[in-house]
Amino acid sequence: MEAQYQSVLIKVSGEMLGGDGGNGVDPTVLSRFADEIVAVRDLGVRTAVVIGGGNIFRGMKGAAVGMDRASADYMGMLATVINGIALQDALERKGCHTRLMSAIAMAEICEPYIRRRAIRHQEKGRVIIFAAGTGNPYFTTDTAASLRAAEIGAQVILKATKVDGMYDKDPNKYDDAVRFERITHLDALSRGLKVMDATAISLCMDNELPIVVFDLNVHRNIARAVCGEPVGTLVTPSI
Ligand code: GTP
Repeated sequence: MEAQYQSVLIKVSGEMLGGDGGNGVDPTVLSRFADEIVAVRDLGVRTAVVIGGGNIFRGMKGAAVGMDRASADYMGMLATVINGIALQDALERKGCHTRLMSAIAMAEICEPYIRRRAIRHQEKGRVIIFAAGTGNPYFTTDTAASLRAAEIGAQVILKATKVDGMYDKDPNKYDDAVRFERITHLDALSRGLKVMDATAISLCMDNELPIVVFDLNVHRNIARAVCGEPVGTLVTPSI
Protein backbone atom coordinates (compact mmCIF):
# COMPACT_ATOMS: atom_id res chain seq x y z
CA MET A 1 0.00 0.00 0.00
CA GLU A 2 1.26 3.48 -0.83
CA ALA A 3 0.12 6.58 0.98
CA GLN A 4 -1.69 9.20 -1.05
CA TYR A 5 -1.29 11.80 1.68
CA GLN A 6 1.93 12.71 3.49
CA SER A 7 0.24 14.40 6.44
CA VAL A 8 -3.12 13.46 7.93
CA LEU A 9 -5.24 14.35 10.91
CA ILE A 10 -7.44 11.60 12.32
CA LYS A 11 -10.57 12.67 14.18
CA VAL A 12 -12.23 10.13 16.42
CA SER A 13 -15.13 10.72 18.77
CA GLY A 14 -14.79 9.80 22.41
CA GLU A 15 -17.80 7.49 22.09
CA MET A 16 -15.85 5.27 19.72
CA LEU A 17 -13.42 4.54 22.57
CA GLY A 18 -16.27 3.52 24.82
CA GLY A 19 -16.97 0.32 22.87
CA ASP A 20 -20.55 -0.92 22.61
CA GLY A 21 -21.85 1.09 25.55
CA GLY A 22 -20.14 4.28 24.36
CA ASN A 23 -19.06 5.05 27.95
CA GLY A 24 -15.66 4.95 29.63
CA VAL A 25 -12.58 3.65 27.87
CA ASP A 26 -12.72 0.08 26.56
CA PRO A 27 -9.11 -1.23 26.58
CA THR A 28 -9.74 -3.58 23.65
CA VAL A 29 -11.20 -0.83 21.49
CA LEU A 30 -8.43 1.55 22.50
CA SER A 31 -5.74 -0.99 21.64
CA ARG A 32 -7.34 -1.69 18.26
CA PHE A 33 -7.53 2.03 17.49
CA ALA A 34 -3.87 2.41 18.49
CA ASP A 35 -2.96 -0.42 16.07
CA GLU A 36 -4.75 1.41 13.27
CA ILE A 37 -2.80 4.60 14.04
CA VAL A 38 0.51 2.71 14.13
CA ALA A 39 -0.35 1.23 10.71
CA VAL A 40 -0.67 4.78 9.34
CA ARG A 41 2.53 5.93 11.00
CA ASP A 42 4.28 2.89 9.51
CA LEU A 43 3.37 4.13 6.03
CA GLY A 44 5.67 7.08 6.78
CA VAL A 45 2.78 9.51 7.05
CA ARG A 46 2.78 12.47 9.45
CA THR A 47 0.00 11.59 11.81
CA ALA A 48 -1.99 13.75 14.21
CA VAL A 49 -5.07 12.77 16.20
CA VAL A 50 -7.89 14.84 17.64
CA ILE A 51 -9.97 12.96 20.11
CA GLY A 52 -13.41 13.79 21.47
CA GLY A 53 -14.66 13.31 25.00
CA GLY A 54 -18.28 12.18 24.63
CA ASN A 55 -17.59 8.82 26.32
CA ILE A 56 -16.96 10.75 29.54
CA PHE A 57 -18.89 14.00 29.27
CA ARG A 58 -20.65 15.83 26.49
CA GLY A 59 -20.98 19.62 26.79
CA MET A 60 -24.18 19.85 24.76
CA LYS A 61 -25.87 17.27 27.02
CA GLY A 62 -24.90 19.23 30.12
CA ALA A 63 -26.30 22.41 28.59
CA ALA A 64 -29.50 20.56 27.68
CA VAL A 65 -30.20 19.80 31.35
CA GLY A 66 -29.69 23.42 32.35
CA MET A 67 -25.94 23.67 32.99
CA ASP A 68 -24.14 26.78 31.90
CA ARG A 69 -22.98 25.92 28.37
CA ALA A 70 -19.43 27.21 28.89
CA SER A 71 -19.00 25.20 32.12
CA ALA A 72 -20.36 22.09 30.43
CA ASP A 73 -18.01 22.59 27.49
CA TYR A 74 -15.00 22.95 29.79
CA MET A 75 -15.94 19.61 31.37
CA GLY A 76 -16.07 18.13 27.87
CA MET A 77 -12.63 19.55 27.08
CA LEU A 78 -11.17 17.98 30.21
CA ALA A 79 -12.71 14.67 29.14
CA THR A 80 -10.71 14.84 25.90
CA VAL A 81 -7.51 15.14 27.94
CA ILE A 82 -8.37 11.93 29.81
CA ASN A 83 -8.90 10.18 26.47
CA GLY A 84 -5.67 11.71 25.16
CA ILE A 85 -3.69 10.29 28.06
CA ALA A 86 -5.27 6.88 27.48
CA LEU A 87 -4.44 6.95 23.78
CA GLN A 88 -0.90 8.14 24.41
CA ASP A 89 -0.38 5.27 26.82
CA ALA A 90 -1.82 2.73 24.36
CA LEU A 91 0.37 4.00 21.50
CA GLU A 92 3.56 4.14 23.52
CA ARG A 93 3.02 0.59 24.77
CA LYS A 94 3.16 -0.37 21.09
CA GLY A 95 6.48 1.46 20.68
CA CYS A 96 4.99 4.47 18.93
CA HIS A 97 6.47 7.83 19.97
CA THR A 98 3.83 10.39 20.77
CA ARG A 99 3.33 13.86 22.19
CA LEU A 100 0.11 14.91 23.89
CA MET A 101 -0.62 18.62 23.45
CA SER A 102 -3.42 20.42 25.19
CA ALA A 103 -5.18 23.63 24.19
CA ILE A 104 -5.67 24.34 27.91
CA ALA A 105 -2.47 24.63 29.92
CA MET A 106 -1.94 21.77 32.35
CA ALA A 107 1.82 21.46 32.26
CA GLU A 108 1.99 18.68 34.87
CA ILE A 109 0.02 16.38 32.59
CA CYS A 110 0.84 17.29 29.00
CA GLU A 111 2.53 19.83 26.78
CA PRO A 112 0.84 23.08 25.92
CA TYR A 113 -0.22 23.37 22.29
CA ILE A 114 2.38 25.40 20.44
CA ARG A 115 1.96 25.21 16.70
CA ARG A 116 5.61 25.31 15.69
CA ARG A 117 6.48 22.73 18.32
CA ALA A 118 3.75 20.44 17.03
CA ILE A 119 5.22 20.67 13.53
CA ARG A 120 8.69 19.91 14.92
CA HIS A 121 7.33 16.83 16.70
CA GLN A 122 5.93 15.64 13.38
CA GLU A 123 9.25 16.17 11.65
CA LYS A 124 10.73 13.83 14.23
CA GLY A 125 8.14 11.17 13.42
CA ARG A 126 6.07 11.53 16.56
CA VAL A 127 2.32 11.05 16.52
CA ILE A 128 0.69 14.11 18.05
CA ILE A 129 -2.51 13.90 20.03
CA PHE A 130 -4.35 17.19 20.33
CA ALA A 131 -6.49 17.44 23.45
CA ALA A 132 -8.86 19.99 25.02
CA GLY A 133 -10.46 20.91 21.70
CA THR A 134 -9.74 24.48 20.66
CA GLY A 135 -9.60 25.52 24.32
CA ASN A 136 -12.80 27.50 23.83
CA PRO A 137 -16.36 26.68 24.79
CA TYR A 138 -18.98 26.64 22.01
CA PHE A 139 -16.57 24.87 19.66
CA THR A 140 -16.71 21.15 18.99
CA THR A 141 -13.79 18.76 18.71
CA ASP A 142 -14.65 18.47 15.00
CA THR A 143 -13.90 22.18 14.73
CA ALA A 144 -10.69 21.63 16.70
CA ALA A 145 -9.76 18.97 14.13
CA SER A 146 -10.35 21.39 11.24
CA LEU A 147 -8.39 24.14 12.96
CA ARG A 148 -5.40 22.00 13.91
CA ALA A 149 -5.32 20.33 10.48
CA ALA A 150 -5.14 23.76 8.84
CA GLU A 151 -2.51 24.98 11.31
CA ILE A 152 -0.12 22.08 10.87
CA GLY A 153 -0.72 21.75 7.13
CA ALA A 154 -2.41 18.35 7.17
CA GLN A 155 -3.67 17.40 3.71
CA VAL A 156 -6.84 15.65 4.82
CA ILE A 157 -9.07 15.07 7.84
CA LEU A 158 -9.92 11.43 8.37
CA LYS A 159 -13.17 11.42 10.28
CA ALA A 160 -13.51 7.98 11.85
CA THR A 161 -17.10 7.23 12.86
CA LYS A 162 -19.61 4.43 13.32
CA VAL A 163 -20.99 4.74 9.79
CA ASP A 164 -19.36 4.12 6.43
CA GLY A 165 -19.85 7.64 5.10
CA MET A 166 -22.31 10.48 4.69
CA TYR A 167 -25.88 9.67 3.71
CA ASP A 168 -28.69 11.87 2.41
CA LYS A 169 -30.68 10.88 5.53
CA ASP A 170 -30.06 8.89 8.70
CA PRO A 171 -29.20 5.31 7.57
CA ASN A 172 -30.20 3.97 10.99
CA LYS A 173 -33.73 5.28 10.49
CA TYR A 174 -34.28 5.04 6.74
CA ASP A 175 -33.65 1.91 4.65
CA ASP A 176 -33.58 3.95 1.45
CA ALA A 177 -30.83 6.33 2.68
CA VAL A 178 -28.24 6.83 -0.07
CA ARG A 179 -24.53 7.13 0.67
CA PHE A 180 -22.46 9.80 -1.07
CA GLU A 181 -19.20 8.63 -2.63
CA ARG A 182 -18.16 12.27 -3.02
CA ILE A 183 -19.79 15.50 -2.00
CA THR A 184 -18.67 19.12 -1.89
CA HIS A 185 -18.30 20.95 1.41
CA LEU A 186 -20.96 23.38 0.24
CA ASP A 187 -23.41 20.62 -0.60
CA ALA A 188 -22.79 18.90 2.76
CA LEU A 189 -23.47 22.24 4.49
CA SER A 190 -26.57 23.13 2.53
CA ARG A 191 -28.07 19.66 3.02
CA GLY A 192 -27.43 19.97 6.75
CA LEU A 193 -25.68 16.58 6.88
CA LYS A 194 -24.96 15.82 10.50
CA VAL A 195 -21.69 13.90 10.38
CA MET A 196 -19.69 17.06 11.17
CA ASP A 197 -20.97 20.38 12.46
CA ALA A 198 -21.28 23.41 10.21
CA THR A 199 -18.41 25.37 11.79
CA ALA A 200 -16.01 22.47 11.20
CA ILE A 201 -17.10 21.93 7.59
CA SER A 202 -16.95 25.69 6.85
CA LEU A 203 -13.42 25.93 8.14
CA CYS A 204 -12.41 23.00 5.91
CA MET A 205 -14.19 24.57 2.96
CA ASP A 206 -12.41 27.90 3.42
CA ASN A 207 -9.05 26.11 3.59
CA GLU A 208 -9.81 23.62 0.80
CA LEU A 209 -9.20 20.77 3.18
CA PRO A 210 -10.77 17.46 2.13
CA ILE A 211 -12.51 15.22 4.67
CA VAL A 212 -12.92 11.46 4.44
CA VAL A 213 -15.80 10.05 6.51
CA PHE A 214 -15.49 6.32 7.10
CA ASP A 215 -16.24 3.43 9.48
CA LEU A 216 -13.55 2.96 12.12
CA ASN A 217 -14.75 -0.54 12.93
CA VAL A 218 -13.46 -1.99 9.66
CA HIS A 219 -9.95 -3.37 10.10
CA ARG A 220 -7.18 -1.13 8.62
CA ASN A 221 -9.71 1.37 7.34
CA ILE A 222 -7.63 4.38 8.41
CA ALA A 223 -4.60 3.12 6.49
CA ARG A 224 -6.83 2.38 3.48
CA ALA A 225 -8.21 5.92 3.62
CA VAL A 226 -4.64 7.25 3.74
CA CYS A 227 -3.89 5.25 0.61
CA GLY A 228 -6.83 6.86 -1.18
CA GLU A 229 -9.03 3.76 -1.28
CA PRO A 230 -12.75 4.52 -1.44
CA VAL A 231 -13.60 3.61 2.15
CA GLY A 232 -16.43 6.07 2.70
CA THR A 233 -17.43 9.57 1.63
CA LEU A 234 -14.91 12.08 0.32
CA VAL A 235 -15.84 15.71 1.01
CA THR A 236 -13.98 17.95 -1.42
CA PRO A 237 -14.08 21.58 -2.59
CA SER A 238 -15.39 20.44 -5.99
CA ILE A 239 -16.51 17.14 -7.50
P1 GTP B 1 12.77 17.72 21.18
O1 GTP B 1 13.46 18.81 21.86
O2 GTP B 1 12.26 18.12 19.83
O3 GTP B 1 13.49 16.40 21.16
O4 GTP B 1 11.40 17.52 21.94
P2 GTP B 1 11.04 16.62 23.19
O5 GTP B 1 9.57 16.71 23.27
O6 GTP B 1 11.63 15.26 23.17
O7 GTP B 1 11.76 17.38 24.34
P3 GTP B 1 11.19 18.03 25.60
O8 GTP B 1 12.35 18.20 26.49
O9 GTP B 1 10.39 19.21 25.18
O10 GTP B 1 10.20 16.92 26.17
C1 GTP B 1 10.62 15.74 26.80
C2 GTP B 1 9.39 15.06 27.40
O11 GTP B 1 8.73 15.97 28.27
C3 GTP B 1 8.34 14.64 26.37
O12 GTP B 1 7.74 13.43 26.79
C4 GTP B 1 7.34 15.75 26.41
O13 GTP B 1 6.03 15.33 26.04
C5 GTP B 1 7.40 16.15 27.86
N1 GTP B 1 7.03 17.55 28.02
C6 GTP B 1 7.53 18.62 27.38
N2 GTP B 1 6.92 19.76 27.77
C7 GTP B 1 6.03 19.39 28.71
C8 GTP B 1 5.08 20.11 29.51
O14 GTP B 1 4.94 21.32 29.44
N3 GTP B 1 4.33 19.35 30.36
C9 GTP B 1 4.47 18.01 30.44
N4 GTP B 1 3.67 17.34 31.31
N5 GTP B 1 5.34 17.32 29.73
C10 GTP B 1 6.10 17.99 28.86
